[in-house]
Order: sequence, then structure tokens, then C-alpha cells
Amino acid sequence: MMASETTSKTHAADNVDAAEIRKFSELASRWWDPHSEFRPLHEINPLRLDFINQRSPLDGKRVLDVGCGGGILSESMAAAGAEVTGIDMGEAPLNVARLHALESGVTVDYRQVTAEVLAAENPASFDIVTCLEMLEHVPDPASVVAACARLVKPGGAVYFSTINRNPKSFAFAILGAEYILRLLPRGTHQYAKLIRPSELERWCRAAGLRVTEMTGMHYNPLLRKYWLAPGLDVNYLVSCVLD
Ligand SMILES: C[S@@+](CC[C@H](N)C(=O)[O-])C[C@H]1O[C@@H](n2cnc3c(N)ncnc32)[C@H](O)[C@@H]1O
Repeated sequence: MMASETTSKTHAADNVDAAEIRKFSELASRWWDPHSEFRPLHEINPLRLDFINQRSPLDGKRVLDVGCGGGILSESMAAAGAEVTGIDMGEAPLNVARLHALESGVTVDYRQVTAEVLAAENPASFDIVTCLEMLEHVPDPASVVAACARLVKPGGAVYFSTINRNPKSFAFAILGAEYILRLLPRGTHQYAKLIRPSELERWCRAAGLRVTEMTGMHYNPLLRKYWLAPGLDVNYLVSCVLD
């Protein structure tokens, strides 16, 4: 068997899309530049941090951030008093995250491992699991949802965010964000991999997670403002509990 075939098989078994990992790795050096391709993640971070912290106060909690990338959310949760582990399959984003945490003086344990493998090693270990803007980049998102459910302690909370799949989300999140406003590089999101709230809810239920809230994340390009409000047509956030 050719080496490349071995690699792609291994990645498929790990529920990792090597092209997605490469895409984020190539951009990783600019992760903390608030004017770069990562500007939207910087701008939405206070909103999503508040959303999580209001429902699951972070201070003193053990938190896992799945698909943490360069650590924008992980660091902010650590600064809010959580003991954070950040996992990602991209080596370059993890290296950026480790360096930035040193500069910021916050402690985050960054590891290159999938949620599925960590769940087999350390089930029921975290008070809170976050998995934001990541599900639409993996081959089998239901498997990540199930792994998050295995990783959280009974009574703990799991948070997801992703993008809906419909003509409006195609117009806003792909045409608008990637081709017109150029907020994100072209090809960041593939329409077929976007996720309807009903699909995410079904995967949560199958994993034993009860969805407690779903809210939309909206953007006004003229004001350059994001806000949370009802309406799940494009970007949305989900909170769940493991009963
Ligand atoms: C859009 S970034 C989101 C980063 C971070 N969650 C945030 O919202 O600030 C998606 C991240 O998911 C990571 N990723 C993709 N597939 C993954 C997998 N199977 N396991 C872990 N991380 C993965 C990528 O390397 C990338 O860092």
C-alpha cells in the first residue's frame, strides 16, 4: 500500500479530514491577528464566552475545548478561571496556541488528539465541553458529538456552534462571507458539510445529551457587529446537558 493511502485511511479512521487540518495549519501564524482571516473568531469570542459563562460559570471548572485551534476561546475561558484543556489535530495551531498562552500568562493544557481518542482514554472527566466552529470541518460530526457526550461528567454541559444548511446560509455564510465581504478565505466552508439544527439535535439526543437552548449568531456587515438572538438560519450556538 502507498504511504499516502495509509495516511488517508488513518485519518478516515480518526474522523479527521487532512485537507481541513492543512487549511487551518497554513493560516495558523495569523491566528491571533485580529485583522486576519481569524477576525470573525476574535469578534464573536466575547459573545460566546458570555453565553457559556452565564449558563455554566467557568471559574474553577474543568473545561475541554474541542477543535481549539490557536486558542482564542480556550485562553478566554482560562482567564475566566477555568482549568482548560484544548485539543486540536493541527500541530501548527497548537504551537501558536502554546506560544500565545505563554505570552498571555494563562495556563492551558494543549494536546494533539481527537475527541474520540480522548473520550476512550478519559471518559466523564470534564464539567464543561465546548466544540465551537469545528463540527462542519470533520467527516463524521455525529461521532464528535458522541465523543463530547462521553467526555463530560454527568450533569455537565456541552456547547456547540456551527452553521445551518439552507439557501440563506449559503448566501450569507459562503457567498457573503467568503466572496463578497471576504471575511473568510474562499473554501473555508463547504455547503454540504453545514449542519441543520435538527440534525445536530438528533445527534445530541442519540448521544444522551439534552439540548437546553439554541440561539442564532447574527452579523451586520455595515456596523460590523455580531449579536445573539433567536433565528437559527445561519450561524447558531447550542447548549446541552448530560442528564
Ligand atoms: C474554525 S477553527 C475553530 C477554532 C476554535 N474552535 C474557535 O472557534 O475559535 C476549526 C478547528 O478545528 C480543528 N479540527 C478540524 N478537524 C478536527 C478534528 N477531527 N479534531 C480536532 N480538531 C479538528 C482545525 O484544526 C481548526 O483548528
